[in-house]
Parts: sequence; C-alpha cells; structure tokens
Amino acid sequence: MGKDVIIACDFDSKAELIKFLDKFEDESLYLKVGMELFYAEGPAIIKEIKSRGHKIFLDLKLHDIPTTVMKAMKVLSELDVDMCNVHAAGTIAMMEAAIKGLTKADGTRPLLIAVTQLTSTSQERMTEDLLIDRKIDEVVSHYAMNAKKAGLDGIVCSPLEAGKVHAECGSEFLTITPGVRFADGEVGDQVRVMTPAQAREIGSDYIVVGRPITQAPDPVAAYKRCVSEFVG
Ligand code: C5P
Repeated sequence: MGKDVIIACDFDSKAELIKFLDKFEDESLYLKVGMELFYAEGPAIIKEIKSRGHKIFLDLKLHDIPTTVMKAMKVLSELDVDMCNVHAAGTIAMMEAAIKGLTKADGTRPLLIAVTQLTSTSQERMTEDLLIDRKIDEVVSHYAMNAKKAGLDGIVCSPLEAGKVHAECGSEFLTITPGVRFADGEVGDQVRVMTPAQAREIGSDYIVVGRPITQAPDPVAAYKRCVSEFVG
C-alpha cells in the first residue's frame, strides 16, 4: 500500500481539469479533488474521472456529529472514491462513525485519513481562538493517535513530520504529505517544502503535488519526473 504521487487538481472548472487530463493519454493517475471542484460540479465529476480509469482522493474534510458524518461517508463510498478525509477534531466517535459509513457490504472501503491541525492554524491562533493551550506539535501527535485509535489509515501532514508520525503511530500508519517542490522549482506560497526524493527518504507514503505539475510547461514530463524521484 502507498508510495504514489497524488496530483492536486485545484482547477476552477471541469473544462480545465479535462484539458489537463487529456494530456496524459493512457496514464492512470491518482487525483485529489477538493471542495471547490466538488461543490461546483457535484458527484458527476467523480464519475467522469473514475470512468477515465483514475483514482480519487476526495478532499472534503468532513467534521460534524457522528451520525451525519456516517451518512455522508456512505454516499461518498458509493461514489467509489479511493481515499477521503475528516477532521480529527471531530473526536474519536466521529472518526469511528466515518469508518462505519464508508465500509461497504463486502467489507471493503476507501482509505480514510485525518486532518490534525490545519497548517494555516498557528500556535497563537490555536491558543487564542480555540483555547487549546498545549503546544501545536503535541496536539498534532495526539490527534494522530486518536485517528489511529479510531481505526483510520493515516493523516495529512508536512513531509517534515512524516518520520515523527511513523515513529509514534507505526510505520503502517500512512502519511499523506503536501508541500513538495522540485529542487530547481518555484516554492510559491508553500513555506516548508521538500523535494520528492527527500519526501521518499523521510518515509512519506503519498505526496500531494499541485502546481509543480499542473502549472508546468510540460505537465506530463513534470509528473513523470515526480514519480521517478518519489517512487523510483
Ligand atoms: O500546488 P501545491 O503543490 O502547493 O498544492 C498542494 C495541495 O495540497 C493543495 O491542494 C493544498 O490545498 C493542499 N494542502 C497543502 N497543505 C496542507 C494541506 C493541504 O498544501 N497542509
């Protein structure tokens, strides 16, 4: 399980996504679809991508009462996505309900991963806005352990944290890591970045790469470079 490059499809419309996918011909890709595209295009966009033979990480970050999350996950599972996610802040009971909703009659289910603290949340904001007075890395570790206890498959984290997460939660617990840039590429708005090769070294299971591939002059070449650096 694992070791794959997931392309973050942060496109504004279905037309742009299809234009991008058409460049790849027969290649089977792993694509991250986020809230913007899903809310704009609805479940039809998932069916369209699946019919082209690609895998999907549906990044909707569910966070609600356990029953609602369970029912919503049942709907997503029927869409045949390969990976989806929840906020660990929803509690262990909510994460357990998510797994229950995702699990199909035959016992199989998409991978389920947790978001711990968003990287946009600073220590200061966590303390002052959320009244959580522990250190942020302690909160991230604790939420990761909660996700593991609930039976989830892994968490989203920085590639810089992947080693620590594996040390604390076990090597089988998946780390899905954005913030990846080529050594000779532009960093853009990402702050702490790693190359695909460094992410592999540190033990990331999946890297999530957007603009270095989607905005590259030759996206197919950029994707292939990413795969060869990360997967080998
Ligand atoms: O274009 P880029 O490679 O920066 O895209 C990274 C993707 O990962 C985007 O979809 C971004 O929203 C997502 N992400 C992130 N950092 C996080 C969580 C998600 O960059 N902490």
